[in-house]
Amino acid sequence: MKIIMLGAPGAGKGTHAKGIVEAYHIPTISTGDIFRQNIKEGTELGKKAKSYMDAGELVPDELVCDLVVDRLEKDDAKDGYILDGFPRTIPQAEALTAALKEKGTAIDYALDIEMSDQAIIDRMAGRRVCSGCGATYHIVNIPPKKEGVCDSCGGTLELRKDDTPETVKKRLDVYHEQTAPLIAYYKEQGILHEIDGSLGVEGVKAKVKEILGE
Ligand code: AP5
Repeated sequence: MKIIMLGAPGAGKGTHAKGIVEAYHIPTISTGDIFRQNIKEGTELGKKAKSYMDAGELVPDELVCDLVVDRLEKDDAKDGYILDGFPRTIPQAEALTAALKEKGTAIDYALDIEMSDQAIIDRMAGRRVCSGCGATYHIVNIPPKKEGVCDSCGGTLELRKDDTPETVKKRLDVYHEQTAPLIAYYKEQGILHEIDGSLGVEGVKAKVKEILGE
């Protein structure tokens, strides 16, 4: 099963990808996580990506496409995967379609989690991310057992660098301009499924299950 998670920043792509991983045992490939890991490790890729990410801009396509196509070759992705945060532009989507076509395969589902900009701005103020393992929480919707501490690894929970209100607004502008056109792209391919992201964690999870089946 090959799945793309679409939706604005903070719509819940990562949160619900995690639910799919648990239910279907396929890996998540998150370009945002790959870049954040590279920044943490101080790699060349991380150095290149950092300034774009901190400003709420997209990392250039040429730094993203080969990275993802190579990742799809790994053994753990042979029975399927969830792409979280990729593709994010029409050229990225076209590169993915072409790479998969070469292998005689294609994406099965594009799940678009829909949220209004205002709801996203309100929600992002409450997101906290573990500085150790990257697990995501929300101070109201998905709180950790102990305030400020990760349930999984005991790491400190913090606000992501690009989650300040100004950067979130910039990321939303970039989303509408460069990423939202992918909704029409995948609708045309007949694989788009729209999900109301305001349904709450359990509501969205149930919708995803309904779409993907048991
Ligand atoms: P990336 O890390 O992909 O960020 P994003 O797309 O902006 O998405 P987020 O991770 O912010 O949000 P999400 O939708 O996963 O929401 P979450 O589940 O956390 O990318 C970061 C940057 O990297 C980009 O700006 C860009 O610079 C670069 N980049 C990455 N990929 C790229 C690419 N392909 N090309 C170019 N550049 C790229 O949920 C948000 C909050 O809401 C959480 O607190 C969660 O607990 C809560 N929540 C989630 N669902 C619900 C719900 N249903 N009800 C209530 N609360 C919920």
